[in-house]
Amino acid sequence: MNKNISSMSILVVDDAADTRELIRRQLAPHYQTVLTVPGIQEAIELLQQQKFNLVITDLKLLGASGLELVRYVRENFRNTGIMMITGYATIEGAVTALKQGVEEYLPKPFTNAELITTVSRLMLKISSREEIKNDYDGKDKYGIIGNSKAMQEIFSIIERASRTPATVLITGESGTGKELITRAIHYHSKRSSAPFVPINCTAIPEELLESELFGYVKGAFTGADTSRAGFFQTADGGTIFLDEIGEMSLGMQAKLLRVIQEKEVYMVGSRKPSVVDVRIISATNKELRHLVEKGLFREDLYYRLNVINIEIPPLRDRENDILLLISYFMRRYALEMGIEQPSISEDTLNILRSYPWPGNVRELDNLMQRLLVMGSDDVIKPADLPGYMKAYASGSQQNLLKTLSDVECEHISRVLEFTGGNKSEAARILGIDRKTLRSKLPPENIP
Ligand SMILES: Nc1ncnc2c1ncn2[C@@H]1O[C@H](COP(=O)(O)OP(=O)(O)OP(=O)(O)O)[C@@H](O)[C@H]1O
Ligand SMILES: [Mg+2]
Repeated sequence: MNKNISSMSILVVDDAADTRELIRRQLAPHYQTVLTVPGIQEAIELLQQQKFNLVITDLKLLGASGLELVRYVRENFRNTGIMMITGYATIEGAVTALKQGVEEYLPKPFTNAELITTVSRLMLKISSREEIKNDYDGKDKYGIIGNSKAMQEIFSIIERASRTPATVLITGESGTGKELITRAIHYHSKRSSAPFVPINCTAIPEELLESELFGYVKGAFTGADTSRAGFFQTADGGTIFLDEIGEMSLGMQAKLLRVIQEKEVYMVGSRKPSVVDVRIISATNKELRHLVEKGLFREDLYYRLNVINIEIPPLRDRENDILLLISYFMRRYALEMGIEQPSISEDTLNILRSYPWPGNVRELDNLMQRLLVMGSDDVIKPADLPGYMKAYASGSQQNLLKTLSDVECEHISRVLEFTGGNKSEAARILGIDRKTLRSKLPPENIP
């Protein structure tokens, strides 16, 4: 085993003493430190005292869910890996756990060999992540890769934004790194040890949003048997991230404006305000100014949210970043998979450079993973790229002789191919609504 990996440390959290002991005995010979604790409180205390590369937790802990610990680790120690073991394996459980940041999921009962392989696979991933981070992140760029002029400017805004509690509004197409930048600001600010609470405004139904954000008191509505804190109370002292803010209803906008102005929130069903100290960072892939003009977004709220503005240009406008990101992801995934890093032929690079990247960095990230997984050769050639990219080979003169509507049509089909035929997602990437998308599709594409 690689020396780097054998010097790594593991914390095991399980309320069953025999499982703790079993895991410890299996892993202790391979890693420098393997400590065990029975519950979340003990785990958090230890995590605050020393660095662990990996936390292994049971899903069901006495009186608590392992997912609470997962959230704590994700928010506070983002380089620490998390593995979950559980006796109640369900697909939904696994999906929830993976969404929360669990990287490996091992259902009970497992054999010693399964335990050891799963842990060592994850450790390889964690150690390559650290190695890469040291290479590319050395100049304190918060894990954000980019040397284009636009990104340099963004780094300096992040720096300034971290020093103040001012609200920040981030705009950029899908997959440009809005959430990554938000986290960088939070974890670089004085608030870094308080919670970072991300909320996707479109993921919560309108009628629940108010009570989710501000909490509710007992008896506020049928079913409110006890009082419950909302995201704003949870984020007290920290940062709340309002993603897709452009989708928020006018009614909720009014309530949010009041929170920003008064720095206090009213729980649903209560007339007594409570003071909260929360920094708000919001993000959108819409032009909020246009929504303001159309009366869909409150102008006063827009100015309150937009004290510091970060506009991330689409990847196609940052050619230097394309090349840097390609080498970054190739290196990272090759290390993670334990394979030799392939090289990329010149004509492949030309295609990647002129391709418009509708899904931005996320699309490039996915493509690099796919190329490495599928790759059988040590050189990546144009033939390895997905079909819709090949039209960008240089010298294809016919590109110059097309009408705008041809180009629009082709671009739409490429985006649809990218989203696997999902029209809502395609409309979102293209920055148009579903109806407009339908009107642009040839009839055979409309169900
Ligand atoms: N400059 C960058 N360097 C490294 N990774 C990046 C960069 N920008 C984006 N990514 C990666 O691309 C993916 C998408 O980023 P992120 O989720 O922050 O985008 P987003 O703008 O919030 O997208 P969406 O609008 O779809 O929510 C993530 O995996 C992120 O780590
Ligand atoms: Mg996002």
